[in-house]
Amino acid sequence: MEKRSNQELMAMRQEHVPRGPFNITPIFVKRAKGAIIEDVEGREYIDFAGGIGVENVGHCAEQVVAAIKEQADQFTHTCFHVAMYEPYVELAKRMNEITPGDFPKKTFFVNSGAEAVENGVKIARYATKRPAIVAFQNAFHGRTYMALTLTSQIQPYKWGFGPFCPEVYRMPFAYCYRCAFGLEYPGCGVYCADSLEDFFVTNVAADSVAAVIAEPVQGEGGFIVPPPEYFTRIKAICENHGIVFIMDEIQSGMGRTGKLFACQHFNVTPDIILTGKSLGAGLPLAGVTGRAEIMDAPHVGGLGGTYGGNPIACRAGLAVLDLLQAELLETAVQLGERVRARFLNWQEEYKIIGDVRGLGPMVGIELVKDRASKEPAGDEAGDLVNRSYENGLIMLRCGAYHNVIRVLMPLVITNDQLERGLAILEDGLKEIA
Ligand SMILES: Cc1ncc(COP(=O)(O)O)c(C=O)c1O
Repeated sequence: MEKRSNQELMAMRQEHVPRGPFNITPIFVKRAKGAIIEDVEGREYIDFAGGIGVENVGHCAEQVVAAIKEQADQFTHTCFHVAMYEPYVELAKRMNEITPGDFPKKTFFVNSGAEAVENGVKIARYATKRPAIVAFQNAFHGRTYMALTLTSQIQPYKWGFGPFCPEVYRMPFAYCYRCAFGLEYPGCGVYCADSLEDFFVTNVAADSVAAVIAEPVQGEGGFIVPPPEYFTRIKAICENHGIVFIMDEIQSGMGRTGKLFACQHFNVTPDIILTGKSLGAGLPLAGVTGRAEIMDAPHVGGLGGTYGGNPIACRAGLAVLDLLQAELLETAVQLGERVRARFLNWQEEYKIIGDVRGLGPMVGIELVKDRASKEPAGDEAGDLVNRSYENGLIMLRCGAYHNVIRVLMPLVITNDQLERGLAILEDGLKEIA
């Protein structure tokens, strides 16, 4: 391929690619390794974004690359529906073993998180013969129509794209920093969870609800972590009404929170668990894992897709699981403690930090113009991301008001890279504060 500069490639991008797909940085990548990205002009960046939570095991982890190459030498695609292959069934077996729940499970694979969400909903509806789905405020579940309908945020995701799918109902989430009920934890008694019963009286009848779908830690919504008892209460209510409880672990799973799955922090066992992102370490792979009797409800041919569970992606997924199960979870816990401690120190120093929250190394800081009014500091957060980029750190924001700085760095980041990244971030904070 020709050697082009970032600017030349940007001109091509502007001319040939629609503006809809957003870009956080104006660079084009030449290579990436671990937690470092190098652009086509040879400039290096510390990566605190991990391709939006996809690179938990690090860019180009040796074992993943070796597995991909070995599989590519054998065959790249047959379509699982036409001629099956071992990596698919081996990965399904492993997912059934490692996901929470001591009961028979089954897994099938698709290409993206949104597709996993679509299929979770299809299966829950089929198994229960009920139409409605309950999702939460600030949820993000993807950009295909059902996933987008379940997604809460209007800008930039939903605006202009309606009408959306019917039979989706939305209730407040346990966003303690901005409680929808104006209450305070723990005095609130986690009313937001119990309010699901009221929701069934005033919004949708429990016996028409197929599934409740939730992210254990809301990702795009602002790295929102509910109180420890929240999900056991929600799940108990679901069980009482025969509702399938789906956890979307697409961003929070695969070691991101220091456990394989974030729901393990809450001692809750979903009926269906959705995985994606870091499962394939950059290859398009997402999983739907659930109770065998629910997963087996749809008829033969009712589920599938041409590329779902592509053999190269499944080999990558198997290598990812080996890496995570070997040592990375322990590393993740330590990384999380370090980052959180630093953020909490910053909170004492910089008034612009209203809240620090997260689980393990899935940590975010919510920026506010004023701690009393909690007015979101979205522009300042954007400024911080831009300044960080200019100084060699790639990072992301999230939240309904785009005012939450989040970190999704590869778990293999070295201490030196982490410290350099945090120093850039703190310099930016000083400037905007
Ligand atoms: C929690 C969650 N669910 C679903 C998705 C959609 O995944 P994909 O972009 O692979 O379709 C995302 C993506 O950010 C996500 O964070």
